[in-house]
Amino acid sequence: MPPQPNRSPNGDPEVVIRVRDLVVELGNKIILDHLNMEVYRGEILGLVGASGSGKSVLTRAIIGLLPKRLGTIEVFGENFDELPPVARRALEQRWGIMFQHGALFSSLTVKQNIQVPMREFLDLSDELLDELAMLKIEMVGLSPDAAEKYPSELSGGMTKRAALARALSLDPEIVFLDEPTSGLDPIGAGEFDELLIALHETLKFTVFMVTHDLDSLHTVCDRIAALAAGTIIAAGTIETILTSPDPWLRAYFQGPRARAAFGLDLAKAKHD
Ligand SMILES: Nc1ncnc2c1ncn2[C@@H]1O[C@H](COP(=O)(O)OP(=O)(O)OP(=O)(O)O)[C@@H](O)[C@H]1O
Ligand SMILES: [Mg+2]
Repeated sequence: MPPQPNRSPNGDPEVVIRVRDLVVELGNKIILDHLNMEVYRGEILGLVGASGSGKSVLTRAIIGLLPKRLGTIEVFGENFDELPPVARRALEQRWGIMFQHGALFSSLTVKQNIQVPMREFLDLSDELLDELAMLKIEMVGLSPDAAEKYPSELSGGMTKRAALARALSLDPEIVFLDEPTSGLDPIGAGEFDELLIALHETLKFTVFMVTHDLDSLHTVCDRIAALAAGTIIAAGTIETILTSPDPWLRAYFQGPRARAAFGLDLAKAKHD
């Protein structure tokens, strides 16, 4: 039984991200087309969709890195576009992001990479910054000697952990992860999933995770949202998604690979 998202006083899950009627156009092409979605406090939401469907664009639009043509995005009830710069910065500190492909700065060590958001937002001594970075390194299961390594000296799994440590740099309430296990072997991916579950349990953040990894969707996510044709075509628990009549979702979640990851859920969903 997945953990229940935190509830507001009226018993409904508390919405921490609310996207309404979002239209994003890039290079004269509509990528997101009147998209609506919600993310609840404390949940791990998995966002799926075909390659090129706009998952990374949606992630970047939510955190204000891409312009939108229409619609509103509220994070913690605040509309980013309407906030004065000081309030924007305060909001930005409440989330962390792990970009697709890790995206560490190649000229900085792991420790320095983790300190980038700290230096941007906090006014701390070098000594304290080092202490905090070492804590994050330990938190994500890297050995202390990883601190002085450059990204080119890291394995794929270590890169993902370092990128996660940077995303957690400011103790965020929401963590955006864009395909955090892609490129890892199944053992590495499984270890990353376990790490994420453990950190989520301890730190209680909300996770917005783009992933193609069926095992991650199965073992980590409380809810799944599916993006196609620029909009969210289905959102809900795994059982809801498994029973969707949408052809793409059926192909994705009921193909041979999905059967391996979701075997029991599939049987249950068909039975219900
Ligand atoms: N900065 C940009 N300028 C113009 N077009 C862009 C830009 N960023 C993304 N796109 C286009 O938007 C579409 C969605 O891209 P996006 O990267 O969000 O896909 P995705 O769902 O994350 O795919 P993948 O699973 O391969 O990562 C693609 O057609 C892409 O070419
Ligand atoms: Mg992407």
